[in-house]
Amino acid sequence: MIPSSNIFLVGLMGSGKTTIAKLLAKHRGLAFVDSDHEIVSRCGVSIPTIFEIEGEEGFRKREACVIDELSQRQRVVLATGGGAVLRPENRANLKGRGAVVYLRCQPRELYLRTRHDKNRPLLQTDDPLKKLQELYAARHALYMEAADIVLDSGRQSAHCLVRRLENSLDLAGVARGEKCTPSVAC
Ligand code: S3P
Repeated sequence: MIPSSNIFLVGLMGSGKTTIAKLLAKHRGLAFVDSDHEIVSRCGVSIPTIFEIEGEEGFRKREACVIDELSQRQRVVLATGGGAVLRPENRANLKGRGAVVYLRCQPRELYLRTRHDKNRPLLQTDDPLKKLQELYAARHALYMEAADIVLDSGRQSAHCLVRRLENSLDLAGVARGEKCTPSVAC
């Protein structure tokens, strides 16, 4: 039994964390928060600009602060950035404060979803598919370590995924918020 209604989504870039988190928050009567959105709104500049000025390390420090803060809130669905699991303190903060859901998706599918995106600095390389394969190899075990629930995101619609996820959350005993609307059938 997970002693909180908080839900934290982890997974690689393009796995659908933000989309799923928004829908799930609505269905379960919880607030939607997104660590990348929070960082951008606090800094007033885009993620590529933060990477450019402060490097990845500077971004990771900001990310750790924001994750620590957002994960201490109550009744939230938090979409994290794909690299959130890299720092042990982030993994510990997420694990202790809510149900962690790993949205697992294969690199080729992630590549198809992200190939036109200019807002993800780590994918601005000559071979973004290779980069996603490397990130998958480097991070999969960390996502698994953090996760209470693993959801294969594949090619299903967001509504179907949310419905499946809600079943898993209910089975795991994760509490709902007060004003929830039933999830859409698929
Ligand atoms: C990153 C993922 C991004 C963002 C940043 C770094 C990563 O978030 O935090 O570009 O290291 O995987 P999304 O997973 O929401 O794209």
